Amino acid sequence: MLDGAAGDEISSRRNREGFERITFRPRPLVDVSKRTTSTHVFGQEISMPVMLAPTGAGRLAYRYAELAVAKAAGEAGTIYMQSTVTAFPLEEVARVATGPLWYQLYLPHSPKETEEMLNRVSAAGYKALSITIDTPIFGNRERDRHNRLSIPQRITPRLVFEGMTRPAWTAEFIRGNFSPSALRGRPPKNLRLSSTATQQAIIATQWPVTWDDVRRVREWWHGPLLIKGIMRADECEQFLDYGVDGFVVSNHGGRQLDGVPGTIEVLPEVVEAVAGRAQVFLDGGVRRGEDAIKALALGATAVFVGRPYLYGLAAAGQEGVKRVLELLHGDIDRTMALLGLRTLDEIDGSFVRVSAH
Ligand SMILES: Cc1cc2nc3c(=O)[nH]c(=O)nc-3n(C[C@H](O)[C@H](O)[C@H](O)COP(=O)(O)O)c2cc1C
Repeated sequence: MLDGAAGDEISSRRNREGFERITFRPRPLVDVSKRTTSTHVFGQEISMPVMLAPTGAGRLAYRYAELAVAKAAGEAGTIYMQSTVTAFPLEEVARVATGPLWYQLYLPHSPKETEEMLNRVSAAGYKALSITIDTPIFGNRERDRHNRLSIPQRITPRLVFEGMTRPAWTAEFIRGNFSPSALRGRPPKNLRLSSTATQQAIIATQWPVTWDDVRRVREWWHGPLLIKGIMRADECEQFLDYGVDGFVVSNHGGRQLDGVPGTIEVLPEVVEAVAGRAQVFLDGGVRRGEDAIKALALGATAVFVGRPYLYGLAAAGQEGVKRVLELLHGDIDRTMALLGLRTLDEIDGSFVRVSAH
C-alpha cells in the first residue's frame, strides 16, 4: 500500500532513474571542517533541506500515525506537511507537534466549508498551506487492487490469514483501533476502524480543484500558499499571477497519472519559469541525502520525502521516522563535505552533470 504506485509504475521508477542520471562534480581543496546543513523556507530555519510530505492513511502503518510523524519531524528540526486525509484531527496533530507544520489541502465540498476549514488550519498554527492539484480522481493503483486493499478494510479470510502470518502488525492494528487507549476521549460516533476514518476523510473532500478554487483559497489564506503537483512550466505564470508563493514539483510519488516524467527531470524547467519569484520544492524518489543535494543543485529550495518516513513509521513508529531523518541528515552533511560545500547557499548547477541516459 505504501510502496505501490499507479499503472505500470513507470513514473515511480522514473523518479528514481532521474536521480541516477545525475552525477556529482566535486570541488575539493575547500576547508569544509565547519559546515551546516540548515536552510530557510519562507523565513523559517530548518535543520536540513528535507521536509516530510503529506501522506494519508498513515494509521494503517502505525496507530499514532500523524501524531508520531509530527513529533519526529519537530525533533529533527524540520517541517511536516499534514495531509487532509488523516485519522487525527488537524488540531490534535498541532497540539502534539514540536516543530512547524504546513497543511496540505484537499478542498471540502463547498466554499463555505473551505473558508471554515482554512480558519481552523490557521487557528491551529499551521504556517503554510499547499493545494494538491494532481488528484482530480484517484490514480489507477493496480498494486493495491492486486493486494485487495480496500478502504474501509473488509475483514476477509485472506486478511485474517495474512494477519496471522504478521502478528506484530496485527497486534499493532488491534491496539490502534480497539484498545481502551485508542478509544479514550473519543465520542462514540468516532469509534471507527482507522481505515474507515480515512475513508470518511476522503469522502469529505471535493475533487477536482479548479482555478477558481485557487483564487478563493488565496483570498482566505494569508500565509504562504503552495501548489503541489506541478509538472509543467507553462502554468507557473498564471499561478504567480494568482499570488502563489511556492511550487512542489511532484507526481504524487507516481501514484496518480502514470507516464509522466520523473520529477527531477521537470524541476529545471519549473525553476526557470519561476525565475526566483517563488520557492520551488520537489518530491518523488528522494531516498538519500545525495538526492536532496542534486535537487538543490538544479534550483530547488528543499525537497520532501514521502515513503521513506512511512517505512520508518511502519517499522518503528516515531523512533523509526526519527532514524530515517537522521540517516538523511548524515547523508547531506557527508555529501556537502565531499563536494566542497560549507553552506547550502554555495550549491549551484556546476556541482552536477545531467546525462541523457
Ligand atoms: C501512502 C501515501 C499516501 C499519500 N497521501 C497523500 C495525500 O494525502 N496528499 C498529497 O498531497 N499527497 C499524498 N501522497 C504523495 C506524497 O505527498 C508525495 O508526493 C510522494 O509520496 C513523494 O514521493 P516518495 O514517496 O517517492 O517520496 C501520498 C503518498 C503515499 C506514498
